[in-house]
Amino acid sequence: MDTIIWNENQLKEAANQLRNGDVVAFPTETVYGLGADATNEEAVNRIFRAKGRPSDNPLIVHISTIDQLEDYVTFVPEKAREVIEHFWPGPCTVILEKKGNLAPSVTGDLQSVGIRMPDHPLALALIEQVGKPLAAPSANSSGKPSPTTSQHVWDDLNGKIAGIIDGGPTGVGLESTVLDLTNPHKPTILRPGGISKEELESVLGQVYVDTHLVDETAAPKSPGMKYRHYSPDKPVWILPQDTEESRQMITSLIKNGEVVGLLASEEFITSVSIQPLNHYSLGKKTLPSQAASLLYSGLREMDQSLVTIILVEPYEKKGIGTAYMNRLEKAAERVL
Ligand code: TXA
Ligand code: MG
Repeated sequence: MDTIIWNENQLKEAANQLRNGDVVAFPTETVYGLGADATNEEAVNRIFRAKGRPSDNPLIVHISTIDQLEDYVTFVPEKAREVIEHFWPGPCTVILEKKGNLAPSVTGDLQSVGIRMPDHPLALALIEQVGKPLAAPSANSSGKPSPTTSQHVWDDLNGKIAGIIDGGPTGVGLESTVLDLTNPHKPTILRPGGISKEELESVLGQVYVDTHLVDETAAPKSPGMKYRHYSPDKPVWILPQDTEESRQMITSLIKNGEVVGLLASEEFITSVSIQPLNHYSLGKKTLPSQAASLLYSGLREMDQSLVTIILVEPYEKKGIGTAYMNRLEKAAERVL
């Protein structure tokens, strides 16, 4: 299959392919998604095949207007309305009890469905033109870091999908927060993401986190969280906070013949001051949202370079830093 790249003026062609049951990658504000008509079982199965995704991992359904939500869930509790009012369109997926008019493979054996309205003009226009909700996981090969550019999608899926809509680099850079509201008295984060726990709590009051996020041995409620994810082929290690300790570690790795790649803030790169060092800047240390938006492209760039090991700076687990560290810990083999 020849994979076509469309620009923003060619949405109509992409929409036609989707209506015909093909899969198309498109930009969202978080990462690129791999979309298919969520009501067409054949089309949804094509997503799983293209990605090599385990079939027990449900897909997020993307809608273009808030009122479409009621078509796919049995009930929208007050807490869900508050989330939607404050954070839609945006990077927060809500899990609610499903109604049953979606393709069965979208949700697997679950009684619930994850739905979000993305905050990206091309994504919204595309869904609108298809006239159907789009089931879309991140548009990477299963296990790889999610794609934040059309080039990343091409690198993973060229020849396996009908086409890619190029909308430039995505903004948030990490996936949406997955918020379980099937028990509306206990809003629970199953996957940290673009909307932080702190932001959710400013609207909802207390928000819980799935036990799996604090105790890795507990079974995750979100099936996707059990897989080793977001991982380049090369080993990824998380550095200590302390730059002096990191500097010593890097020096001894270099002595042992490793070609070290460093993914870190400008300040961190400057203060370890080892030459020569392959490095990729995650922006200013005071701006964790920049680090979040650059993490996946940094991991991919390092993976394609000559480095033999990728070392990454940790950020504080608060705000978007929580999602950054969640993805990094999943990508990493060891924490130093
Ligand atoms: O930002 C995003 O969320 C991106 C863009 C494309 O929208 N999508 C994305 O999809 O990250 P995916 O498939 O890579 O991750 C979806 C996550 C998985 O961990 C999956 O297990 C979980 O959401 N999920 C989906 N439906 C669920 C449900 N009904 N119950 C629990 N977890 C669910
Ligand atoms: Mg994914």
